[in-house]
Amino acid sequence: MTATQKTQVIIVGSGPAGLLLGHLLNLDGIDNIIIERRSRDHVESRVRAGVIEHGIVQLLRDVGAGGRLDREGLVHHGVQIWFDDQRHRIPLSELAEGRAITVYGQQEVVKDLIALRLASGAPIEFNAPVLEINGHASESPSVVYESGGTTIQIRGDYVAGCDGSLGIANRIGDVARVERSYPFAWLGIIAEAAPATEELIYARHSRGFALYSMRSPTISRLYLGISSRDTLEEWSDDRIWEELHTRLATEGNTSINEGPILERSIAGLRNVVVTSMRRGRLLLAGDAAHIVPPTGAKGMNAALADVRDLHRALRAAYRDHDDHLLEGYSDLALERNWRAAEFSTYMTQMLHPYPDDPFESTVQLTRLRQLFVNPEIATALSRNYVDLNSL
Ligand code: FAD
Ligand code: DHB
Repeated sequence: MTATQKTQVIIVGSGPAGLLLGHLLNLDGIDNIIIERRSRDHVESRVRAGVIEHGIVQLLRDVGAGGRLDREGLVHHGVQIWFDDQRHRIPLSELAEGRAITVYGQQEVVKDLIALRLASGAPIEFNAPVLEINGHASESPSVVYESGGTTIQIRGDYVAGCDGSLGIANRIGDVARVERSYPFAWLGIIAEAAPATEELIYARHSRGFALYSMRSPTISRLYLGISSRDTLEEWSDDRIWEELHTRLATEGNTSINEGPILERSIAGLRNVVVTSMRRGRLLLAGDAAHIVPPTGAKGMNAALADVRDLHRALRAAYRDHDDHLLEGYSDLALERNWRAAEFSTYMTQMLHPYPDDPFESTVQLTRLRQLFVNPEIATALSRNYVDLNSL
């Protein structure tokens, strides 16, 4: 092991949460290191979320990460919700004080933040798995990681656990979690095909859920709700397209452009919320602390909102020697994250049919009809969809 190094904040993980936190601390002159187990190429090409809330777009702009997002992001003022063989639209911006969502891939956010990091010259280590987080209850916690065959120890004032659900930080200390699983997963594809729709379509079909999204004028992003037991081998290209055509058709009219499938993956649907996001001087942010089913598009937004709160708290501690915000960080962030959990659960349960449960099916369809009968429900959905993490 090399001699112990020293910094102020040690950030584990270079997903959206870790990268944004590093950037915000740099802007305040607070020393930090980001340590990431995977390669830069892997992190920059990992296809995941795509919808960014109004307030989170504003946050990225405010910190100088909004240039390409503003040029290439697709601003949407409404969303389609299709069920019972009919097309319906929610006018998001009309119902949410003019605010809108921006469709821009998570890996593009990550690329933009890595570019800022590299330009700043602040340290970021790729291919460097963190093996241990020690002394979280003490005044100077430390992290042990591996890099280029060497084991390195670094000591800091705080450790930020931004290492996702499968990382190490959320297993440290006395952790409890509240969880729920669903019998569904999402099969997601990226296809080289012009989107056949200007707005996202969330479809509840009797055969299952489908979602039409996009990344650019030439790239479509599509999802199918499948059984949580299914594997990629069971889903040939032909089967995927046939199922998408069926579920995204109304009155016999299909509306999809096909093209080569560039990427495919399956992600299970589940909720997890830890009971505390702070363990002494170890602070959790993003997927390390909570997972939502993707139906409300909240995962990345929540991760970035945690960092907005955590950064304010760390800035107050360093600049004003005031620990109040750090002490309140977990409660504040958990309150917001439970609202994200509730909204994601509502969207998931409304849109994924349970074929063998006629009671649940009727409740779902009643909920969906209510959305288009009761403007208060449509307004609540719109506000949560476009800006839950800044309300
Ligand atoms: P992550 O992006 O997971 O970043 C954590 C980082 O920590 C990773 O780079 C990881 O390699 C690193 N790491 C882990 N362990 C260690 C270690 N020991 N040492 C060093 N580094 C470590 N959300 C949506 O809203 N819509 C979607 O469609 C959607 N699809 C998803 C599909 C998949 C397969 C997954 C896993 C998530 C998806 N999400 C989606 C959720 C969204 O992508 C996450 O909420 C978001 O990535 C959270 O960001 P984060 O920075 O907290 O964590
Ligand atoms: C996308 C992902 C989501 O989870 C969602 O609800 C909407 C869009 C996307 O990847 O574009």
